[in-house]
Amino acid sequence: MTYTRGIMEPIKVGLLGFGTVGSGTFNVLHRNQEEISRRAGRGIKITQIAVRNPVKARQVLIDLPDTVELTSDFTAVVDNPSLEIIAEMIGGTDIARELVLRAIYSGKHIVTANKALLAIHGTEIFEAARSKGVIVAFEAAVAGGIPIIKVLRESLTANRIQYIAGIINGTTNFILSEMCERGLDFATALADAQRLGYAEADPAFDIEGIDAAHKATIMAAIAFGVPVQFERAYVEGITQLHAIDIRYAEELGYRIKLLGIVRRTTRGIELRVHPTLIPVKRLIANVEGAMNAVLVYGDAVGATLYYGQGAGAEPTASAVIADLVDITRLCMVNPSNRVPHLAFQPDRLESTPILPIDEVTSSYYLRLRVANQIGVLSDITRILATLGVSIDTLLQKKSEFFDEGRVSETIIILITRETLEKNINLVISRIEALSTVRSSVTRLRMEALN
Ligand code: HSE
Repeated sequence: MTYTRGIMEPIKVGLLGFGTVGSGTFNVLHRNQEEISRRAGRGIKITQIAVRNPVKARQVLIDLPDTVELTSDFTAVVDNPSLEIIAEMIGGTDIARELVLRAIYSGKHIVTANKALLAIHGTEIFEAARSKGVIVAFEAAVAGGIPIIKVLRESLTANRIQYIAGIINGTTNFILSEMCERGLDFATALADAQRLGYAEADPAFDIEGIDAAHKATIMAAIAFGVPVQFERAYVEGITQLHAIDIRYAEELGYRIKLLGIVRRTTRGIELRVHPTLIPVKRLIANVEGAMNAVLVYGDAVGATLYYGQGAGAEPTASAVIADLVDITRLCMVNPSNRVPHLAFQPDRLESTPILPIDEVTSSYYLRLRVANQIGVLSDITRILATLGVSIDTLLQKKSEFFDEGRVSETIIILITRETLEKNINLVISRIEALSTVRSSVTRLRMEALN
């Protein structure tokens, strides 16, 4: 038996916002429309775009066909009954939330690249979408062009995911690469990133780890079947990272990356973003510049690694258009037969707790400056032994004269075996109370990822 599809009108899409991702989406859709419609079984057409200044936009976008209507009325696009899909490309969490909910309640499917929106308001948005039987697609929200949402939600569906560790912020990875390769300090590397257009004028979300935490929050929900809970994520960025620790880590065979980590443990789920030492021989340790990579460990498949561009007009458009095609194919399917938004059936989400950082298990890199005198090391190692923390590596650097040449001091670097974060906090406070210890203790977490 052969099946043929009737000729269908193209599905009509309204764009909210026409910045980098919006214009990239328009261009790729236009350039590859023939192949895309052969795949989707139906044409996909952007017919209306909301932008703040349509006159200016029309002057800049001289190639934009006259059939595409530009308007400054965002609500009019959301309410337009001829549109079936709204692609939200404005970012932020306030106006975007209002517009997305309004579009859902008017029965439209949503495509969004907005990780902050989903990490913070995901529960409300997915519930609204479920009640209206519409799709909210968000491949572009995590790791840009890497199809990690599809992988976690569909391709690895046979697995119990054990952990995910991702370089999911290109700006910070670029800064760390510069610090490592060129020995730059953080401020200089950030200035370079801004000059080259990698960092935003206000780079706070990137360098403070918030952007990565939004993405990790979404991945945790899909991997473990729990609600999105950004408020429970532990978030530490790279602003306090010193070039000296990058150098010492390299000497010991480790590279420092800002990782988003989600892990299933017997006590709950770890959801954390922080600078992390990784053995330099791991593939993910060698992801440099603004590239992203996500390591997923499933019980059946083992370790899998996904690499690509996490931002930029066309890599992100690649993910947005994949969602447009999915919706085009699936919008006629009964909602209960579609892939659930968060991979698990909405009535089967679990309330497994997200562990506070004190309850997280890790090994640690500790750096401190001590007076160069007999007994200092034994005082320090006694503290660790008393608290049951095992030392893996202990390195004493050559003595130097600090304190304007008056006192001979030395740098000690300790690498511990795995222990609870609350134990290491005690270790650090007791070490810092020693009279022979001349600096606060720098602490970095480590992951073997083996
Ligand atoms: N600012 C992000 C990054 C890109 O640097 O990776 C969008 O999520």
